[in-house]
Amino acid sequence: MNKLILLSIIMLMPLCLAQDISVEKLLAYNKWSSQHQRVYLNEHEKLFRQMVFFENLQKIQEHNNNPNNTYSVHLNQFSDMTKEEFAEKILMKSDFVDHLMKGISQEATHNDTNNNETQLSSNSLTLADSIDWRTKGAVTSVKNQGGCGSCWSFSAAAVMESFNFIQNKALVDFSEQQLVDCVIPANGYNSYGCNGGWPVQCLDYASKVGITTLDKYPYVAVQNNCNVTGTNNGFKPKSWIQIPNTSNDLKSALNFSPVSVLVDASTWGNYYSGIYNGCDQLHISLNHAVLAVGYDQQGNWIIKNSWSTYWGENGYMRLAPNNTCGILSYNLQVTA
Ligand SMILES: *[C@@H]1O[C@H](CO)[C@@H](O)[C@H](O)[C@H]1NC(C)=O
Ligand SMILES: *[C@@H]1O[C@H](CO)[C@@H](O)[C@H](O)[C@H]1NC(C)=O
Ligand SMILES: *[C@@H]1O[C@H](CO)[C@@H](O)[C@H](O)[C@H]1NC(C)=O
Ligand SMILES: *[C@@H]1O[C@H](CO)[C@@H](O)[C@H](O)[C@H]1NC(C)=O
Ligand SMILES: *[C@@H]1O[C@H](CO)[C@@H](O)[C@H](O)[C@H]1NC(C)=O
Ligand SMILES: *[C@@H]1O[C@H](CO)[C@@H](O)[C@H](O)[C@H]1NC(C)=O
Repeated sequence: MNKLILLSIIMLMPLCLAQDISVEKLLAYNKWSSQHQRVYLNEHEKLFRQMVFFENLQKIQEHNNNPNNTYSVHLNQFSDMTKEEFAEKILMKSDFVDHLMKGISQEATHNDTNNNETQLSSNSLTLADSIDWRTKGAVTSVKNQGGCGSCWSFSAAAVMESFNFIQNKALVDFSEQQLVDCVIPANGYNSYGCNGGWPVQCLDYASKVGITTLDKYPYVAVQNNCNVTGTNNGFKPKSWIQIPNTSNDLKSALNFSPVSVLVDASTWGNYYSGIYNGCDQLHISLNHAVLAVGYDQQGNWIIKNSWSTYWGENGYMRLAPNNTCGILSYNLQVTA
């Protein structure tokens, strides 16, 4: 039976003839697809997905067989996507980010002249050897953005959640969906729902309108009409700053609170555990927003992602020191 399926796949997919499809791989596919409850439009799509899966499985096995690698990779919810589809469905468009980057840098710093708290901390504070805001109870649970490029809203909600905890001692989940629905061109923002957007614009929006809680405005992974009115909807950040692009500045900032960071996540799809250093450092294009929640004694950054706890180290990643994946490029912290 397996041999028959194998044969028919090989005959239907002449482009993939070079691939060595074993019965083990087919079984791995069947197991994975029932775990992830994959439903495909038709047999063609199913065969295509299987081929993509086999290719990804092959790469995963090769990577994990090389003892020189500092991180391991694994099958997960992205394992039947091509690199291009992953970029299209999960990440933000890089050209969109590049284009907006210029316009954004002026509005990034919001009234920070009125606030020298962080400046103060970076000048006089002795940096902790390591810091992890999770251990202080300052980080909410890992979320899942689903098939929507709304990472920016998760990064923004997360940086406000942590600041709210530090300031008000209350750990409350805020509504990403409100940001996806309301931080939109009609309200004066260059953010575009599932196609991408800006954490800094979420902060600006929330400072004016307030961000409500996740249970009042739940996440649905598609953009809907903005469903809040008035200017008194919940937590309001008063000011925030852009962190300068050195490791020391990011560490200083992390001694004060978690930080919203932009990264190049093109190669992050199958990350499972360990110290990630798999980005192409010569061609960084920022296409994802996450939350930095600390660093360890070796200087690895601890990152909270929004791809469910199934991805990475229970939803987290450790990223190699310095500017790995562009992590120092464009970072924001709420300061009041
Ligand atoms: C691991 O690294 C060593 C030293 O750089 C190198 O000689 C070896 O070929 C590498 N092994 C693999 C499997 O890449
Ligand atoms: C920010 O600064 C501007 C100009 O100084 C001021 O009009 C505005 O009220 C300030 N906003 C906040 C939230 O402090
Ligand atoms: C800045 O910090 C200094 C030293 O703590 C303080 O005296 C001053 O009031 C602060 N300025 C503002 C604008 O917050
Ligand atoms: C908007 O919110 C109200 C009250 O929270 C709710 O009853 C209504 O169903 C929501 N509308 C949409 C379109 O989500
Ligand atoms: C860091 O920021 C400075 C300006 O503050 C800029 O000149 C430099 O190119 C940036 N470096 C990187 C690696 O982004
Ligand atoms: C990268 O970070 C490590 C550890 O924090 C440090 O020792 C090293 O000098 C840094 N390298 C560069 C190129 O900045």
